[in-house]
Amino acid sequence: MTMLKVRGVSRRFGGLTAVDDVSFDVHEGQIKALIGPNGAGKSTLFNCVTGFDTPHEGSVEFKGQQLVGRRPQVAVQMGLARTFQNTQLFDEMTAHENVMVGAAARHAAGFFAAALRLPTALAQEQEAAATASRLLRRTGIEEWADTFAADLPAGIRRLVEIARALATDPSMVLLDEPAAGLNATETAELVETLRRIRDDGVTVLVVEHDMGLVMEVSDEILVLDRGKKIAEGPPRMIQKDPLVIAAYLGEESDDG
Ligand SMILES: Nc1ncnc2c1ncn2[C@@H]1O[C@H](COP(=O)(O)OP(=O)(O)O)[C@@H](O)[C@H]1O
Ligand SMILES: [Mg+2]
Repeated sequence: MTMLKVRGVSRRFGGLTAVDDVSFDVHEGQIKALIGPNGAGKSTLFNCVTGFDTPHEGSVEFKGQQLVGRRPQVAVQMGLARTFQNTQLFDEMTAHENVMVGAAARHAAGFFAAALRLPTALAQEQEAAATASRLLRRTGIEEWADTFAADLPAGIRRLVEIARALATDPSMVLLDEPAAGLNATETAELVETLRRIRDDGVTVLVVEHDMGLVMEVSDEILVLDRGKKIAEGPPRMIQKDPLVIAAYLGEESDDG
């Protein structure tokens, strides 16, 4: 089944076309990666898909329903959850409380009510607490449950954010650069976590700059360069694709 169907999405900023007529599908049960050099348009496309930005052209269907022009909260309620490139945890809350916010976002009171600790029914709160505990175990970070977010190492923060997205009970999660700032051990743990998420039946779309992680974990890869889709296919194919190699080599020489 096609979980996400993106067709002809374009987004411009002034004279710059950040995303240029991009189409792709994500199938149920897949880990799909969106890669490309810095400035390729990954985050912009990601924001268009999750309703945080509106494309000038194109359509985004999630489970057969149009998402373009609808509020991000609608996507969450339909089962599409996301994380941000710069993690946005509530520093003065514990890891467990942060994940509870995600669980509460499913209920009518919503994400911000939960964040502000507005009164919610006790039953909902207990259910959210149980969900948060289960997801901290599932992401392998239960020992950090009572640590304030401000005191968490970078790799653990990233996993808390993923657990928080999972707490909204999504059928698909979109992760923006989950490996950014992680060391090799933390990245290896992240790979395991992504596989467990998929094995739990959650479809994954991951935006990632790091080719290593992507090659290891993805079922399929979509490559953007300067806003355009330049390749799409399984890791073995992408690794050998001359356009992809050129795009990444070009980036290295730009940096140097
Ligand atoms: N809000 C914005 N206003 C103007 N230009 C933007 C904005 N967001 C992104 N861009 C530009 O769009 C291009 C794609 O950016 P982005 O989607 O962040 O790329 P990536 O995530 O692949 O690094 C870049 O040239 C960037 O400078
Ligand atoms: Mg980005």
